[in-house]
Amino acid sequence: MNNYFGVDYYPEHWPKKRWETDIKLMQELGIDVVRMAEFSWSKLEPSEGNFNFGWLDEVIELLTEAGIKIILGTPTAAAPAWIINKNPEIQPIDYEGRRRHFGGRHHNCQSNLTYRNHIQRYVTAFAAHFGNHPNVIGWQIDNEFGNSHNELCYCSSCESFYREWLREKYGDIETLNQKWGTVFWSQDYSDFSHIQAPKLSAAGENPSAVLDWKRFCSDLIVDFHKFQSRILRAAAPGKFITHNLMGFYNKANYFDLSDDLEFVSHDQYPGDQHPGLKIYDRHGFKAHKIAAALDLMRGIKQKSFWMMEQQSNIPGWGVMARTPRPGEIGMWAMQCVAHGADTVVFFRWRTCTVGTEQYWHGILPHSGIPGRIYYELKETIGRAKPLMAEIQGTLPNARVAIVYSYDQMYAFEIQPHHPDLWYAEHVVKYYTAFFNRNVAVDFISDKMDFTKYDLVIAPLQYVMPSVLEEKYVDYVKNGGNLLLDMRAGVKDETNICRVDAPLPAGKLVELLGIEIHEYDCLRDTTVDVVWDGVKHKCEMWSDIITTKTAKALCSFDSEFYAGYPAVTLNSYGEGLAYYVGTQPGESFAAKIADELIRRHNLETFGSTPEAVEIVHRAGDDDYIFVINHTAETKHVDIPSDWKSYYQGQTDKIKPFGWDVYTRKRGV
Ligand code: GLA
Ligand code: ZN
Repeated sequence: MNNYFGVDYYPEHWPKKRWETDIKLMQELGIDVVRMAEFSWSKLEPSEGNFNFGWLDEVIELLTEAGIKIILGTPTAAAPAWIINKNPEIQPIDYEGRRRHFGGRHHNCQSNLTYRNHIQRYVTAFAAHFGNHPNVIGWQIDNEFGNSHNELCYCSSCESFYREWLREKYGDIETLNQKWGTVFWSQDYSDFSHIQAPKLSAAGENPSAVLDWKRFCSDLIVDFHKFQSRILRAAAPGKFITHNLMGFYNKANYFDLSDDLEFVSHDQYPGDQHPGLKIYDRHGFKAHKIAAALDLMRGIKQKSFWMMEQQSNIPGWGVMARTPRPGEIGMWAMQCVAHGADTVVFFRWRTCTVGTEQYWHGILPHSGIPGRIYYELKETIGRAKPLMAEIQGTLPNARVAIVYSYDQMYAFEIQPHHPDLWYAEHVVKYYTAFFNRNVAVDFISDKMDFTKYDLVIAPLQYVMPSVLEEKYVDYVKNGGNLLLDMRAGVKDETNICRVDAPLPAGKLVELLGIEIHEYDCLRDTTVDVVWDGVKHKCEMWSDIITTKTAKALCSFDSEFYAGYPAVTLNSYGEGLAYYVGTQPGESFAAKIADELIRRHNLETFGSTPEAVEIVHRAGDDDYIFVINHTAETKHVDIPSDWKSYYQGQTDKIKPFGWDVYTRKRGV
């Protein structure tokens, strides 16, 4: 079984006499899994080599008697004071060369060998002690890699690992100089040992060096994870290892990290803000952005996933977000299920009365007395449980894929082009247009198989390694339909501008059938585009395109380049290659989606009012979720071949409601 409802539980925060009450309330709620111990190093090893596992043994036995499974976390995101006092060099150095000190969490460098020795000792003992308990079903290593790391560690240890990483990649210093363009501003190196981690400079930075640094930092996180997973797997083979990812966060390449995971877990607080993707604004929570993060998590391993921290109440540290409205917590949880979550673990069981997160509220308030949230979740869990077993492991039958790339994200962090251009926000503009049409979309990496999709959308393909360029060309040549957009093909793998042709350079000129000799960054303005006589506003950027073999589908309608193509279509081999030379505004993205749906006969699950979504998971039958993210009752046209899963469902869905239908496959 892999479908549970759970809570993140911190028994060490509460008197032992409270544990049995907690576990009884969990049972009554329908909880069958808990995550524990990811922040309890000082309680489990209060001094070096002095392991104090007894209290956790007791909790595990109480949970086992109650039929509740356990996931244990390795606590390496919160090194205890006695370690830091013994080895203060473990504390990380930030971009400006400042030491980040003990007092919060993530106060550790991940390359520091002394810290790794502490981890080796602790995780080995921890895994040996708990790993073979039949009710400990899996592990989470550390916690939210990249979170709290405002800037990753720039210490001398990380710097020397970076130099080795570069030596491994480039072989000799001359090749590095050439690939980084160090001729510029006299930055040539004569030896790898002269290269520094790209800390705060006097003026400017080398975009090739910083892109490699970001790639190295992601690789370091993956290595730090594997360092621990090797220990756990040796001590307790057969238990799963997962990690709690954070949607569109940018500090680790989740595709790389997930290679070491049996499945992905996701932490989601719709009321919180994710860098580059404001999920919440004064108009409320954005259903499409919450959905996009969920679909990205499913895309990381192209399989169902867990929610390891699902918002259960008001999020906040010193400042709080809005309180969830009646039904919203349950609806958000079921939106996760609809997008591919097989398990939902709510954060946290009980609002803690101590420390930084006194206002990151849990299911139970500070008082420990069950209230509105507890009883709402009880109803949700009771209604959802039978369904979860039926849909476990199923995925949507998406015919559209959006390529998501950490390399592109990093390159645009280094050179945003426009102050407001955010990679994830730009990508989600295309996603949102399909979301609003209830068209299933997969997120994929550029290393995954394009050929299973009718349409591949690859926004901001700015860094274009030749192997990727060949892959795009082959996909279209063999019948694929590809959409590329602004800034495609500008750079090579080392973030150097490609010079062998006008943009989009390389083989993309022929693939797309266009040339771009000029472009315009739309600072403090927008540009008009007209398509089928309707005018749309677009933002950030205009490519001034001349068509070669491509045809213009629509044109700019303002600026000196009015009349020039804004979207082109080229027939290449057996397939089609689209190019969009701007950042689509909402209505233009909608028009593009309508055109693509029509041209490629993409299935939509009907039209719905704003913030009412329809998503499906394809098992023996299609399980179709209708989810109302609004505080009003909404009407939805339910096709005659959809069969209600629950009694009493009608074409009126209640505020924050979630209804489920089934449909015979292959309709
Ligand atoms: C993240 C962490 C949790 C908790 C929440 C709230 O999701 O994983 O430990 O800190 O943030 O801040
Ligand atoms: Zn470091």
